[in-house]
Amino acid sequence: MATALAKAADAESVDHAARIEHVSKSFTGPAGRQLVLDDITLDVAPGEFVTLLGASGCGKSTLLNLVAGLDEPSAGSITTHGRPALMFQEHALFPWLTAGKNIELALKLRGVPKSDRRGRAEELLELVRLKGAHGKRVHELSGGMRQRVAMARALAQDSRLLLMDEPFAALDAITRDVLHDELTRIWQETGVSVLFVTHNVREAVRLAQRVVLLSSRPGRVAREWRVDIPQPRRIEDAPVAELSLEITEVLRGEIRRHGQH
Ligand SMILES: Nc1ncnc2c1ncn2[C@@H]1O[C@H](COP(=O)(O)OP(=O)(O)OP(=O)(O)O)[C@@H](O)[C@H]1O
Ligand SMILES: [Mg+2]
Repeated sequence: MATALAKAADAESVDHAARIEHVSKSFTGPAGRQLVLDDITLDVAPGEFVTLLGASGCGKSTLLNLVAGLDEPSAGSITTHGRPALMFQEHALFPWLTAGKNIELALKLRGVPKSDRRGRAEELLELVRLKGAHGKRVHELSGGMRQRVAMARALAQDSRLLLMDEPFAALDAITRDVLHDELTRIWQETGVSVLFVTHNVREAVRLAQRVVLLSSRPGRVAREWRVDIPQPRRIEDAPVAELSLEITEVLRGEIRRHGQH
């Protein structure tokens, strides 16, 4: 089904990897109805890298979950071509399987024949620079290595769109730096579209071609920036730092306006 969809999309030469049109989302809780996302319109172009930036609780994960199809918008529509791949802060690997078998499972679910799975898993491990780790158990891997395996598993789904929800937030700064480089390289090598959620301004600027800032309560697209700084960037590069400062100022204004801290 997903393959048929992807093929149909190929045939009409798609101009977006995700199209979010006038999307709103409310939740009903003990305190009544809460409008979390209000009239979000946003496209991710094929091959584009977009970061979604905003304060804690502004609705970033809610929006990503809607794009992933894990939940339904209250209003508006979302289209993606084929099923997006997802990666979270927690690696969500199966601890009883080896690194390689975790990837092979994703290949199996995608319908890759058994005889091709091992070879493809090895290739994906090589892509995330974990050659030789096929037989390693999850508990034998460092946090950074686990996120590499999680990345390989997401790529195993062969989606056109990779949705990432703060995937490096739990890592130390140096490991995160290395994984930023790896993600940039993989994005360039594979041509996959990426929608990456973070509340870290520098991370957003380090990675993206476009940074979209969400306001809080309710989440709306407050502003966006095109980032033309050549890749690979370093988080401490002067242009990255400069743009990060500018965005941080706007983000601070948003947070003040909504009485959050
Ligand atoms: N399933 C749900 N039911 C009720 N409320 C929810 C649900 N999911 C999210 N919310 C509420 O929606 C708001 C946005 O949450 P969300 O997790 O999307 O924020 P976020 O921007 O991802 O925050 P963080 O940066 O801390 O991860 C919060 O007020 C949260 O309590
Ligand atoms: Mg979140």
